[in-house]
Amino acid sequence: MIRPFVSSDVEALARVYRNAVRTIAPQAYTAEQVSAWALFPDDLEEFRIRMGRGVTLVAEEAGHIVAFGQLEPDDHLDFLYCCGDASRKGVGSAIYRALETHAMAKGVKEIHTDASRISRPFFEKHGYFLVEIEHVIRFDVEFERFRMTKKIRANQALQHNDPSCHESCLRTPRASRGRG
Ligand SMILES: CC(C)(COP(=O)(O)OP(=O)(O)OC[C@H]1O[C@@H](n2cnc3c(N)ncnc32)[C@H](O)[C@@H]1OP(=O)(O)O)[C@@H](O)C(=O)NCCC(=O)NCCS
Repeated sequence: MIRPFVSSDVEALARVYRNAVRTIAPQAYTAEQVSAWALFPDDLEEFRIRMGRGVTLVAEEAGHIVAFGQLEPDDHLDFLYCCGDASRKGVGSAIYRALETHAMAKGVKEIHTDASRISRPFFEKHGYFLVEIEHVIRFDVEFERFRMTKKIRANQALQHNDPSCHESCLRTPRASRGRG
């Protein structure tokens, strides 16, 4: 089931984030990068505020949150994280499609993201193209960031309309700040 984030989900999302980074990222990142990347939700209140921005969706399986993603603002796919145990089963894609459908409904014509080495092939599979490679510092450690973009059209949004996530399950507040 895909549903909107609520504030009380924040600890579960922090667990998903750390699990995704520690179990999936080592295939493409050094131990130092993985450790730095996993630090992000340590300030839980800041993380709660961050998750409350834009449209944040969570995927639940058997009552447990296994993945989440965020659109913030409406033309920018920000966070997308899936637990190692649930990865490569289409959960990330289901969240992505629901967020893309929301962007389309908001009139967005081109959607952007800053992908990791791990998520770059994921976004390529979803029709994104590389714009440029940036280098950013997070917790004193350097990371490559892949700026990617995709033009979206109304018929794509309809194809992607996941029956498990209706427009009524989406919501829309705001704001932004860099992460990594
Ligand atoms: C990116 C992420 C959310 C994908 O979630 P997921 O549920 O595993 O993705 P899906 O199962 O929907 O994958 C769809 C397709 O994307 C591609 N893909 C997904 N993960 C991949 C990986 N680790 N390596 C290469 N291709 C990948 C594949 O083409 C896959 O299709 P396939 O499994 O049939 O080959 C997950 O790998 C993750 O949490 N990664 C670590 C955190 C991260 O990098 N987040 C992005 C921050 S910018």
